[in-house]
Amino acid sequence: MQMFEQSYAIKRLPDQFFAKLGKRVQELAEAGHDVINLGQGNPDLPTADHIVKALQKAAENPINHKYSPFQGFPYFRQAVADFYKREYGVDLNPDEEVALMIGSKIGLFEVSLCLLNPGDTALVPNPGYPDYLSGVALANAKHEFMPLHAENGFLPDYDTIPDAVLDKAKLMFLNYPNNPTAGVATQEFFDDTVALAKKHNIFVVHDFAYGAIGYDGVKQPSFLGSAGAKDVGIEMYTLSKTYNMAGWRVAFAVGNKSAIKTINLLQDHLFTSLFGAIQEAATAAISGDLSYVQELVDIYERRRNVLVESLRGIGWEVEAPKGTFFAWFKVPEGYTSKEFADLLLEKAHVVVADGSGFGSLGEGYVRFGLLDSEERLREAAERIGNLGIFAKKQIY
Ligand SMILES: Cc1ncc(COP(=O)(O)O)c(C=O)c1O
Repeated sequence: MQMFEQSYAIKRLPDQFFAKLGKRVQELAEAGHDVINLGQGNPDLPTADHIVKALQKAAENPINHKYSPFQGFPYFRQAVADFYKREYGVDLNPDEEVALMIGSKIGLFEVSLCLLNPGDTALVPNPGYPDYLSGVALANAKHEFMPLHAENGFLPDYDTIPDAVLDKAKLMFLNYPNNPTAGVATQEFFDDTVALAKKHNIFVVHDFAYGAIGYDGVKQPSFLGSAGAKDVGIEMYTLSKTYNMAGWRVAFAVGNKSAIKTINLLQDHLFTSLFGAIQEAATAAISGDLSYVQELVDIYERRRNVLVESLRGIGWEVEAPKGTFFAWFKVPEGYTSKEFADLLLEKAHVVVADGSGFGSLGEGYVRFGLLDSEERLREAAERIGNLGIFAKKQIY
């Protein structure tokens, strides 16, 4: 077979850090080990029944067998606008301020392709969701990292970013509640972000993938809830996490008209729109009584409590996450993130994500997903306890 050389764009893509982990997990499972996999961000519970039913019904409607209209069906965009009004008090024009997407992963790439020229600079969180970097690399742009430190609640401290960096930055990616750190933002932080973006002419992309998943009764703020946010940015909202719909591939971006128009233009070239039946089901998901979403958040909160209490019980002094379905824990002294994650994998058959896969400042941490039952989380903690590492109280 003749080998064809990859394009420069593909060669620029960073390594898919977590693809390798999946292989090792599979090997252990195939060897008959009972692996508790808390390493990924794939929701473990099924999509709510009424959403599945809406898809089934919609799949029978021949209108959905055709190409759906460019930019999607107006009823879905209207449902998005209604959702934002109800949830966040934000007014959106469904025709100009909403773009429908086949998941936010592709949306994040699209934003970079839409707004960055070769050589431009994007601000990217460290640690952070790795795909921001991939989109920036595909656009042949550069990135500067915004450090996220525990002592600042894993929010970037804008005062420490040099003016020269802020002045050259064209785009900024933010994500709260945050993957991987589980840090959360306040509306005041977003107010400051708007002011900074205006001052330095930076376009803000707020990835709100875990927007609904906040704990201890605290509702997580939308970036668009800050005055002037629509002047400087967009928010991306996926149904993957909040609605257990990761496999369905449906998300939307809302906010700045000119950016939404550009995203829609790119999408008109890439694909017409989402499968109509998915648009109907997604409309069912975000409309009407959303108490089932709170029930899901309550499940994650109970799991969080079980995991944190069980780990503290074995002598690991961990911090409870405030949002997302992740927990970001400091590894015990004497281990790197990779060494510790490998130890848990090989000796306890518990999979966690090595924090350094999320950037250099992820070193020293591992990420647990709250994506198995309370019983399994308790068992994971017990197995880790049996390794005997935490016999002595940890001093950080
Ligand atoms: C922070 C963050 N953004 C975006 C995504 C992508 O979500 P999707 O493509 O399923 O909408 C994920 C998924 O893990 C994520 O954690």
